Amino acid sequence: MIDIDWKNLAFGYVKTDYNVRCYYRNGQWGELEVSSSEEIPMHMAATCLHYGQEAFEGLKAFRGKDNKIRLFRIDENAKRLQASCAGIMMAEFPIEKFKEAVRKVVKLNERFIPPYGTGASLYIRPLVIGTGAQVGVKPASEYLFVVFVTPVGPYFKGGFKTTPFVITRKYDRAAPLGTGTFKIGGNYAASLRAGQEAAKGGYSNVFYLDAIEKKYIDECGAANFFGVKNNTYITPKSNSILPSITNKSLLQLAEHLGMKVERRPIALEELETFEEAGACGTAAVISPIGYIDDLDNNKRYTFSKDGEPGPWSTKLFKLLQGIQYGEEKDVFNWCEIL
Ligand code: PLP
Ligand code: COI
Repeated sequence: MIDIDWKNLAFGYVKTDYNVRCYYRNGQWGELEVSSSEEIPMHMAATCLHYGQEAFEGLKAFRGKDNKIRLFRIDENAKRLQASCAGIMMAEFPIEKFKEAVRKVVKLNERFIPPYGTGASLYIRPLVIGTGAQVGVKPASEYLFVVFVTPVGPYFKGGFKTTPFVITRKYDRAAPLGTGTFKIGGNYAASLRAGQEAAKGGYSNVFYLDAIEKKYIDECGAANFFGVKNNTYITPKSNSILPSITNKSLLQLAEHLGMKVERRPIALEELETFEEAGACGTAAVISPIGYIDDLDNNKRYTFSKDGEPGPWSTKLFKLLQGIQYGEEKDVFNWCEIL
């Protein structure tokens, strides 16, 4: 038995038993290897250390009501990792190998999957790094894929509770023709200063506007944004945000629940008109937004009068988590049972 207080787990790193690795050498990916080491020996001129050749993913395994293990939309993460690798000139990790590696690492660490009913899950973190030595700014010729897991609780304090965000005009996370649509380490490095300032001000995270005009909504920290009004689920269309798999799923679930859905540019002023708002992502699930402060203009956009999540956010959250924990019918066949 492992001694973990599942109900009070934070979103952090917990050492598990194994990780799975695969090396790209001489133009091809090798066999999957199982490791119990938490360390990666590396050449000091590896491109991941100098030129940011690093991409990662985040997905979850859930222990269901029927005690079965469910992996959520693993294909989507496999495809997005390929897009991220291609975006920064790294060797793309094959889809089938990705799925095999994820299944393997989850199975090998089964004892770390939080029990049903605790609200926790097993976070799966695949990554690809350039390991080949280069000093000129060029892609590496060798890569390493690693996938590890860690049991996690809610990303924002308190779980499904309203949380505050703050608009920044001082920092951009990504540029429109840059790397914002890829899940690569550099974007997160670029977000750290803004994130820390937001946290110091008592906010959960930063609310980013478009980098050119600061007129349209981009995303919220490490999550996409959605607003709800007139029974419509509305989410930004932007070429500098990560295409969130959770958001893509919520668009379908919203329609399934009878909502209208829109994906389009959302001007900042439109925030005023939303009845509900939320941040969504694998880690965030749905984190309902209580308010967004625009400190430059001394303005607060409020989405919850009583501090409680709104009705549509609650319905969407219950349906999404219900599918993930095997409580609701998996209408779109998103879960793979291990
Ligand atoms: N936006 C950013 C910047 C993220 O890091 C994430 C997390 O993966 C998301 C959005 C949400 O994406 P997903 O729902 O695929 O986890
Ligand atoms: C995710 O939702 O998987 C994320 O990537 C969020 C963050 C931990 C980077």
